[in-house]
Amino acid sequence: MSGGPVSSDLVAHDTAGAGEADGRDARESPGVHSTPARAGWPAPASPMLHLLSMADLDAGGIAHVLRVTDSLGEVVRRSIPRVPALRGRTVVSLFAEESTRTRLSFETAARRMSADVLTFSPATSSVKKGESLRDTVETIAAMGADAFVVRHSAAGAPARVARWVDAHVVNAGDGWHEHPTQALLDCYTIRQCRAEAEGRTLGAEVGTECFVGLHVAVVGDVRHSRVARSLVIALRTLGARTTLVCPGTLAPPSLEGWGVDVSQDLDAVLPEVDVVYVLRLQLERGTGSYLPSAREYSAGFGLTVRRAARLAPGAIVMHPGPMNRGVEIADEVADMARSVVLRQVANGVAVRMAVLYLLLAGPNALEADELGRSLGVAGA
Ligand code: NCD
Repeated sequence: MSGGPVSSDLVAHDTAGAGEADGRDARESPGVHSTPARAGWPAPASPMLHLLSMADLDAGGIAHVLRVTDSLGEVVRRSIPRVPALRGRTVVSLFAEESTRTRLSFETAARRMSADVLTFSPATSSVKKGESLRDTVETIAAMGADAFVVRHSAAGAPARVARWVDAHVVNAGDGWHEHPTQALLDCYTIRQCRAEAEGRTLGAEVGTECFVGLHVAVVGDVRHSRVARSLVIALRTLGARTTLVCPGTLAPPSLEGWGVDVSQDLDAVLPEVDVVYVLRLQLERGTGSYLPSAREYSAGFGLTVRRAARLAPGAIVMHPGPMNRGVEIADEVADMARSVVLRQVANGVAVRMAVLYLLLAGPNALEADELGRSLGVAGA
């Protein structure tokens, strides 16, 4: 798919470059050549090097991350939610753009795996004195970092970091481009809800077959949304159907390669879907200039109480946060039982534990079942 303005080529190029630099090809990372997600949970053919885009993972790779998350999710619910899996490893949290949940989620995940966390904030760093991103990153790397979790307003920044350092890099959101761990936690949440609806508990026997034929509506400011880009790739990879619902001005400039349906009629789409995924209006990215007014937007595309009543009984409502209550989603809808917004946040920690584990444990990563048993997880 075409990622977004400017960014996709940059990332594709840089990702390949990052792989060549240390003799490994990032495109060979998990699942790219492994078998589709089904029973048996194939382990990735090779260890994950970086997670820069959802396209780094094929169906088997996504399934593997979700399965490892099953094991680690149980650890998170313990009274002492900490395991020694990444003891002695250092994770750098490099957020050059605002974040609440993603940053705290990654840092919590790293600590729950017993990694050391170095937190970098541009506002209180030498970036204020004019130090470049490259010098900053190389300076931190010289202190001994095993992984960088990077959020940046520029699409392609995490891929660049991956070229500069001999450490694993996770894209925690770059410009309008991608946000792969958000898509993974969204997929995990959908799978969890589907399993519960069928009276099953997550574990070895629950694969990703629930995504085949699943219909998801992604509603709102798709143009500026890195969340939408990563989610669409993940859903397509897993066999789900996506309908984008947005005003023409908030559709991406080109939908070539996205493999989605597009509609401007939210009322008509809602009764058809299993999941309605509401995006935030990204006013800080200039969304306002693409819209007559927030009120008019809400009238056409807001998930109001009246609209939510059109959803099928088992359908769920998702939002990546932060929510503009009363704009893209009504207060009451955000808090109704079918809204799984806080579940998404909770699952984010376990998913990021899994991603950090798979990156940092490298060839020594245990199979999901084996990992579960080593952590004393019931039913692993
Ligand atoms: C998103 C982000 O920052 O990309 N939030 C998040 O990570 N949970 C979505 C948004 O800001 O709208």
